[in-house]
Amino acid sequence: MIDRFGRRHVYLRLAITDYCNLSCTYCKPGGATGSGSKRASMMSAGTIERLVRVCAGLGVKKVRITGGEPTVRPDLLEIARRIAGIPGIETLALTTNGVHLAGLAAPLRKAGLEKLNVSLDSLRPERFKAITGSDRLEAVLLGIDAALAAGFAPLKVNVVVMRGVNDDEILEFVALGRHRAINVRFIEYMPFRENGWSREGLVPYEEMLARISRKYPAEPIGSGERTGGVAKDFAIEGHLGRVSFITPISDTFCERCNRLRITADGRLKTCLFAPAGVDLAAAMEGGSTEEELSLLIRSTLEQKPERHPEAEDLRDHQDQPMNTIGG
Ligand code: GTP
Ligand code: 5AD
Repeated sequence: MIDRFGRRHVYLRLAITDYCNLSCTYCKPGGATGSGSKRASMMSAGTIERLVRVCAGLGVKKVRITGGEPTVRPDLLEIARRIAGIPGIETLALTTNGVHLAGLAAPLRKAGLEKLNVSLDSLRPERFKAITGSDRLEAVLLGIDAALAAGFAPLKVNVVVMRGVNDDEILEFVALGRHRAINVRFIEYMPFRENGWSREGLVPYEEMLARISRKYPAEPIGSGERTGGVAKDFAIEGHLGRVSFITPISDTFCERCNRLRITADGRLKTCLFAPAGVDLAAAMEGGSTEEELSLLIRSTLEQKPERHPEAEDLRDHQDQPMNTIGG
């Protein structure tokens, strides 16, 4: 799947539900917990498996399960097992808020999951509650411990940095990786429909790095240019874990984008900020063959934009809130 700009698409981000048990201020419009689509149960495990098979046939090698919050699905382990068993899928990954992780980390590993990213934006209970609407910080921290114990190393912890909200915790987050194989990734706050984004709320990567470097010598060790990832990675002297930055605003990575997305309701998205395109789930319900689905995916990829618009214009290009896309 090579697009008009020569980008090869090997990475599928697959949302398996739009339901989330948290309601983070920067993610969900109106902060409604459990807001969902009409098709609340979303795609069945069988539909998901078939879709991934088609994508694997087109060259996808890595699948990341996202949401909403993927761990709210009762059949998550079955979905993971089914995807892990598809020929051609070399890496199965998942991004979670960690609330249910303590009980799921080991079973997920057994089901074939190789990589795990946990979202966590504050280490302070009061603030965690203000951001997420939930008091489950302790559960997330236990989930992180369980994930490390289950062998997910390095474990990536995603922190969306927002000025005046949690940017005073950057150094505390860096310290998480002192003795543990935790890769803390600071993410520039991105605008989505009705998520309250403003340029003032953004802490650009250079500023985050400067603040960290005053306390911790940070050595660059590569960036996504080499690995197909989106982060800039740094080693911190004396720390087991790395620190990374994801810079969708100050230094976009569109030119090496290797991702496709399928939304929770089964629509294909060629860019995080492009409107959802062809409805693959509906096509499947309508009896499309795998060959027809492949054609639909290929023709949608033809329309993938070269890059996403400037930050200030991004919100207008969103036809959906973040919780239905999965990041
Ligand atoms: P790895 O597979 O470990 O590299 O994870 P990842 O960074 O692809 O996935 P994750 O779900 O942890 O996402 C981290 C952050 O990167 C989130 O804020 C995502 O929204 C953001 N992100 C991921 N892909 C893209 C993309 O294609 N464009 C933009 N702008 N942001 C992205
Ligand atoms: N800006 C940056 N990252 C975001 N995420 C969700 N919303 C935003 C946003 N507005 C992150 C989550 C999760 C990942 C999938 O996307 O924190 O780690």
